[in-house]
Amino acid sequence: MRKKKVLSGIRPTGKLHIGHWAGVLSNWVELQEKYDCFFMVADWHALMSEYKNSGRIKSNIIDNVADWISWGIDPDKSVVFVQSDVSEHIELFMFLSVLTPLGWLSRCPTFKEQLKQLKDKDINTYAFLGYPALQASDILIYKANYVPVGEDQLPHLEITREIARRFHSIYKRSVFVEPQPLLTKAPKLLGIDNRKMSKSYNNFISLDEDDSSIETKIVSMFTDPLRLRKKDAGHPDTCNVFSYYKTFAPDLAGDVRTWCVNAGKGCRECKEVLAKKLIGIISDKRRRKKELLRDEDFLPSVLRDGARKARSFASRTLAEAKEAVYAVRDL
Ligand code: TRP
Repeated sequence: MRKKKVLSGIRPTGKLHIGHWAGVLSNWVELQEKYDCFFMVADWHALMSEYKNSGRIKSNIIDNVADWISWGIDPDKSVVFVQSDVSEHIELFMFLSVLTPLGWLSRCPTFKEQLKQLKDKDINTYAFLGYPALQASDILIYKANYVPVGEDQLPHLEITREIARRFHSIYKRSVFVEPQPLLTKAPKLLGIDNRKMSKSYNNFISLDEDDSSIETKIVSMFTDPLRLRKKDAGHPDTCNVFSYYKTFAPDLAGDVRTWCVNAGKGCRECKEVLAKKLIGIISDKRRRKKELLRDEDFLPSVLRDGARKARSFASRTLAEAKEAVYAVRDL
């Protein structure tokens, strides 16, 4: 039996950090064993919010893909490509746009939320309103069965399914597959200051962070606010440091819980152990990333190859969609 298909994407808006690993990439690495996976750099989606900082997008693409591969995405198993290398996405987006009611887009919770949050970015634009329609095209064009996403993306998945249904009902032909979300089960990693991990707060640890800076950042992390003195019992389940352990050192989590609730080791020591562990993990990936980037042809050739494979699927679906649109009679 053919494997089911998975498609997912990340916008190349900056460096990737350990929150991306915990929430997205670690999941991708597992999925590629079981599914035919398409992993996409969503550079057009990035442009929708970053059109005034567009100069950084190209270098982010290479940097991010280098992280993907050094952290375990295997371009021999999965199709790794850049959205804008497959212009079929935009063409299908056009066919989807003509039948997408404005209300679906303007009522989309992510749209309303982003307009409020990204006030400095001027995203009250025609393209940004259509963000979910382009995402629908990304997904439908590969007939993806599953889309691994975080909760925040569920409204986009729902719009994707609705667009597919509307297309099928208008043109009386079934071209697309209605995708299902694969919710990431990993807990969200907060930033080192307990706020959402984000570029704008500068509270993240990047996937290629230097050893000394990992140490400084981890040691400065907020811990359990109820544990004021070393002899106080801690509450690992509400401590952000413990959630880092669960993600990056699950083998130590049992011991850490015991130290913490029995007031065995202090928070400082606990963070030093974590820093050492994280340095071990990141330095290895950082070295691999450096090697990948040293060979100037390697990543461009991975992306060229990925675009070629992606295109061969995408162009077939686009042709079917066009045929459905223009073959229809008696609308
Ligand atoms: N909107 C997604 C995000 O911000 C990125 C994205 C673009 C995507 N196209 C996609 C994710 C298709 C899944 C499938 O994270």
